[in-house]
Amino acid sequence: MTRTLTLRRPDDWHLHLRDGAMMHAVLPWTARHFARAIIMPNLVPPVVTPADAAAYRDRILAATPRGSGFRPLMTLYLTEETQPRDVRAAAEIGLIAAVKLYPAGATTNSASGVKDFSKVRRVLETMAQVGLPLCVHGEVTDAEVDIFDREAAFLDRVLDPIRRDLPELRVVLEHVTTTDGVAYVREGGDGIAGTITAHHLVLNRNHLLAGGIRPHYYCLPVAKRETHRRALVGAATSGEASFFLGTDSAPHTDAAKLQPCGCAGCFTAPNALSVLAEVFEAEGALDRLEAFASLNGPAFYRLEPNAETITLERAAPEDVPAQIDTEDGPVTVFDPGMALHWRVSGG
Ligand code: NCD
Ligand code: ZN
Repeated sequence: MTRTLTLRRPDDWHLHLRDGAMMHAVLPWTARHFARAIIMPNLVPPVVTPADAAAYRDRILAATPRGSGFRPLMTLYLTEETQPRDVRAAAEIGLIAAVKLYPAGATTNSASGVKDFSKVRRVLETMAQVGLPLCVHGEVTDAEVDIFDREAAFLDRVLDPIRRDLPELRVVLEHVTTTDGVAYVREGGDGIAGTITAHHLVLNRNHLLAGGIRPHYYCLPVAKRETHRRALVGAATSGEASFFLGTDSAPHTDAAKLQPCGCAGCFTAPNALSVLAEVFEAEGALDRLEAFASLNGPAFYRLEPNAETITLERAAPEDVPAQIDTEDGPVTVFDPGMALHWRVSGG
């Protein structure tokens, strides 16, 4: 049985770091395992201008533990007012690595998102010209569409028309949760990739809803039925270049999660790699973990993979706390509901 596994240092291609006290509490958990992360811009107010992104990057760097070498890869939050020239300039100086599209109202802090897609066409055209990826939260928001069908509906109604109109636009379909999403990415050629979270590899909707509601498993897109989870495991462990890790680690205080209208998001930064190792081992695919966590993402984003390595060891599980304390209150760490046998033993 494999006991140790050395990988190029992983990156996280979808991460919520928040700001202020929350950021100070959660950032060290990402920085200890990951070299880089695509930083989501859904702050309140959102990160919409290059100046916002530069200021947020500087706050992140100031909060990064010394010596970790962690590098935030910044994004802009696409609104109907986003200026093509700002996007072009920010991409050209390397300030941003992507632009994020939230359909208005799709998820936490997405009120400023896009309602009328014709209003962002010029920005998307500019991104296609400069090769800047569009990260998409792929769910429609129409009240009449069932929440479990929102990803599939988004592919048909929104994403496919955009990609037909602008075939050169490079797209990351983030946190894929359905067989439809997996198939769409697989059939889409080099210009589209999909990120997959650690939690969607282990959760189906029964874990969320059967035998009692589990608010800490509520995230968006919501976990789907088991056949979809199996498709995600198949995609992640396939080694195919178009699938890579984006944890979507999304911390909320317990007070914000445990209330009549609780927030969406799972805080997985502390144990995402242990969860992945468990899933890949069960599939007999540990030799493909490096592709998923460390190689495919940089290749899509046209960056070098990290030169450093980390070593995972099959040993007593990592001592991850059930909760972390923040000045805003406790944040519960994702509980995968299974024993974890792998720990990160060295960098
Ligand atoms: C994210 C958050 O809390 O910011 N929540 C989530 O459930 N994933 C927003 C998002 O990425 O949808
Ligand atoms: Zn997210």
